[in-house]
Amino acid sequence: MSKKINRRNFVKTAAVAASATLFAPAIVSANAAPKRYAIVGTGHRGTGMWGKDLADNYKNELQFVGLCDKNYKRAEAGRKLIGVECPTFTNFDEMLEKTKPDILMVTTMCSTHHEFITKGVAKGIKVMTEKPMTTEAKDTQAVLDAEKRYKNPITVTFNYRYSPKHQQIKEILDSGEIGKITSVDFSWYLDVYHGADYFRRWHRLKAGGGSLWVHKATHHFDLVNWWINGDPVEVSAFGALNVYGKNGKVRAKNCRECPYKSSCEFYWDINKDQRLVKLYNECEDVDGYNRDGCVFREDCDIYDAMNAIVKYSNGVNMSYSLNAHEPLEGYRIAFNGTKGRLEVRDFERQPWKPEKTTEMEIVKNFKQREIIEPRESTGDHGGGDRRMKDLIFKNIELPKIMQLPDSRAGAMSCLTGIAARTSIEQSRPVKISELVKL
Ligand SMILES: NC(=O)c1ccc[n+]([C@@H]2O[C@H](COP(=O)([O-])OP(=O)(O)OC[C@H]3O[C@@H](n4cnc5c(N)ncnc54)[C@H](O)[C@@H]3O)[C@@H](O)[C@H]2O)c1
Repeated sequence: MSKKINRRNFVKTAAVAASATLFAPAIVSANAAPKRYAIVGTGHRGTGMWGKDLADNYKNELQFVGLCDKNYKRAEAGRKLIGVECPTFTNFDEMLEKTKPDILMVTTMCSTHHEFITKGVAKGIKVMTEKPMTTEAKDTQAVLDAEKRYKNPITVTFNYRYSPKHQQIKEILDSGEIGKITSVDFSWYLDVYHGADYFRRWHRLKAGGGSLWVHKATHHFDLVNWWINGDPVEVSAFGALNVYGKNGKVRAKNCRECPYKSSCEFYWDINKDQRLVKLYNECEDVDGYNRDGCVFREDCDIYDAMNAIVKYSNGVNMSYSLNAHEPLEGYRIAFNGTKGRLEVRDFERQPWKPEKTTEMEIVKNFKQREIIEPRESTGDHGGGDRRMKDLIFKNIELPKIMQLPDSRAGAMSCLTGIAARTSIEQSRPVKISELVKL
């Protein structure tokens, strides 16, 4: 027998009430003059989420003063797509010198983030970076050290936290309803469309995205650290490359020029998306960056199936898996507590229409199952993108638990992935304390 409960507005207990005081992130204050805003990395993310959307919806808060990309054509194509008149640069230092931004958004290839973060921090600019903050331990240390030295904290834009259903999970766990959390079972599924896409470009190389342990799983590790109020301590992991890279029977440079178009299940036609054609195909003569590169290139050195055990500072253990060649996309997570269990199943894409896109339930020890009504979470990243931007640029009121993630959150999440990657490479458990000095 199961009971159905509407907990959309679950903010009841003392623990949650105490943390629900309002928090002002103070990146852009209400009624202030527009902030001077610059972006480094004018690819899909820089020109979309942090470009055109901001130019269209945050006109009173921001003035675009500069765009930088190492590919001069992409910087110019990006400027046109965003629809602003500011100058474009290929030299980052020159951009900072000439445009004097108040806010810098870092949306370059993951393994280069630290370079721009540390330079921006040293100049007293408010730096925001896309996830993962960094892909190597030494670069994580460099960011933490720069922040301390210049007393200039950064923001890591973990959008998934801002999905209303993810806030709801946090509130349920913080309320103590399932008791003290003892363990977490977490599986994330990337399907053969989205999962494959990481193998088309720089993400397929550890030197580009730090592997999916870092590039992708940083989101998941950040959610867990935040949900359970814990820091990772030690990680043991395994990984394999089962489908992409050298596993392909045939390969080509990219999908456009591929002689196996009609038979390859992973064939993807970039020409159907004119925005991507402008941003990538029309700029690729400068740097050879093929957005539709073959998923079977033999230089791929990352994993497409990963498992880890993570031990946390508060005694919680997590078993985690990430798989990038699934027939469906979404996740399943269960939090086991001393008084019961919270389980969530999220359906992002699958070849059938599920009754609900998110299922949540609590089962308390010696009691019945309670079905929880998840909060409405529509929009990109479960509605997280819009809420996070409104918090950053419009100072909307959110509970204190929703305050902006800082470099510590950025470090703890990417270090979990770096430790997992190192654990596989060295066939041993890896402690976070081996990697950086906090
Ligand atoms: N939070 C999310 O949900 C989310 C979603 C997508 C991407 N991202 C992040 O956004 C970032 C960009 O992703 P993308 O998909 O737009 O990648 P992309 O490759 O399309 O764009 C990156 C851009 O950075 C430029 N670049 C790379 N190295 C540079 C350097 N040294 N100096 C100047 N420019 C440089 C490239 O030329 C390219 O134009 C990544 O860090 C990624 O992890 C986050």
